Amino acid sequence: MKRVDDFRLRLGKKELVPIVIGGMGVDISTEALALEAARLGGIGTISDAMIVDVSDRLYGTNYTKQKARQYRQYTKNFDKTDIKFNLDWIIEATRRQVRSAMSAKRGDGLVFTNCMEKLTMNAPKETLQARLTAALDEGIDGITLSAGLHQNSFRLIEDHPRFRDAKLGIIVSSHRALHIFLRRNARLNRLPDFIVVEGPLAGGHLGFGMDWANYDLATIVAEVMEYLKGENLDIPVIPAGGIFTGSDAVAFLEKGAAAVQVATRFTVANECGLPDATKQEYFKASEDDIEVNEISPTGYPMRMLKKSPARFSAVRPNCEPYGYLLEDGKCQYITAYERELKRQPNERKVFVTDKTCLCTYMRNDQVWTCGHTTYRLKDTTNRLPDGSYQRLSAEHIFKDYQFSNDNKIMLPKLGGV
Ligand SMILES: Cc1cc2nc3c(=O)[nH]c(=O)nc-3n(C[C@H](O)[C@H](O)[C@H](O)COP(=O)(O)O)c2cc1C
Repeated sequence: MKRVDDFRLRLGKKELVPIVIGGMGVDISTEALALEAARLGGIGTISDAMIVDVSDRLYGTNYTKQKARQYRQYTKNFDKTDIKFNLDWIIEATRRQVRSAMSAKRGDGLVFTNCMEKLTMNAPKETLQARLTAALDEGIDGITLSAGLHQNSFRLIEDHPRFRDAKLGIIVSSHRALHIFLRRNARLNRLPDFIVVEGPLAGGHLGFGMDWANYDLATIVAEVMEYLKGENLDIPVIPAGGIFTGSDAVAFLEKGAAAVQVATRFTVANECGLPDATKQEYFKASEDDIEVNEISPTGYPMRMLKKSPARFSAVRPNCEPYGYLLEDGKCQYITAYERELKRQPNERKVFVTDKTCLCTYMRNDQVWTCGHTTYRLKDTTNRLPDGSYQRLSAEHIFKDYQFSNDNKIMLPKLGGV
């Protein structure tokens, strides 16, 4: 039986181990995690989600405080139209993050950044352009466009000197979404270098409605491949979502996938940005503890542990410091909060149950978003005498994907990996 290591991902002149660790915002797929994937010959992905705030935390800048101070007078106003991000700060913060990762990169692999269109930041076009341009300026190997159709994203960077040499790809959840992207970009004579096809079992936001369970990754991947064949296009296809073992990956590679993108297995890696206590919650989770809900104000369904503290929100909208989801001064959480405030005028704390303040709770590691297979993480490690689960290194997990077969999962050596 074949192993993932029997295959290689070809991207231009590069030959890579066909394993991509997907982007996980906010700083869940850390630089350290992405660098491990690159060192081991695969692709690691950092994320520019909430990049300004992430810069404050990682590099000691104080953009967020300054922004909160600047817009203090809007706290009680539910129209946030005038709250804007400073584009220079976005550029500086992105550049700092990418420079740090690229200068520390070792090995033959690549480091990409994940760029979500849905982070509209009250000026969708300008802020996206700033993020993409800054990442290219600092030499990022590639960009994975996600959370949106990205109809205009290529156009925003078409004049950049690296537009044709950086590896640019998109995440889609159907061949229809891919068709729209390709049609919109036909004029640029620049195809994506890779296409991640993300199915309904992935972590984070889903490119499906609440009927996600009616879809399956293998079928969507086959449809995308069929579509590309019909268009006479040869673009690497990278399935993602629910690929839990090396053998799961091989099944896709044998059917013509160029690589696989995985994330959930790495949420419990030492290098992953989640707090240790949260990693233990992921290990402990049973299938019943995981749900797909609609509390994200992006409008996309999101998978998470039911116990996520963000599930019952009691914070005022926090758009003065954050506001990453604002569009025309609005966010679905503001609308929900305003409604509840009218319903509970005498309460000291206003509870909102149908939406959450994603910025506040993601920033505080309280949205425990995860893939469907999270309940299997306990089978990937040892239970220690104190009842906790043994921590894993990213290298251990990566190599398990790369070299295992027969649906086996290699457990770490007791006492440390
Ligand atoms: C904790 C977590 C956070 C994620 N955050 C993002 C994100 O910010 N942007 C994105 O495009 N995908 C995100 N994803 C999706 C992954 O990049 C990846 O495509 C998917 O989860 C792969 O499926 P798997 O987790 O079943 O291996 C996230 C996944 C997880 C588990």
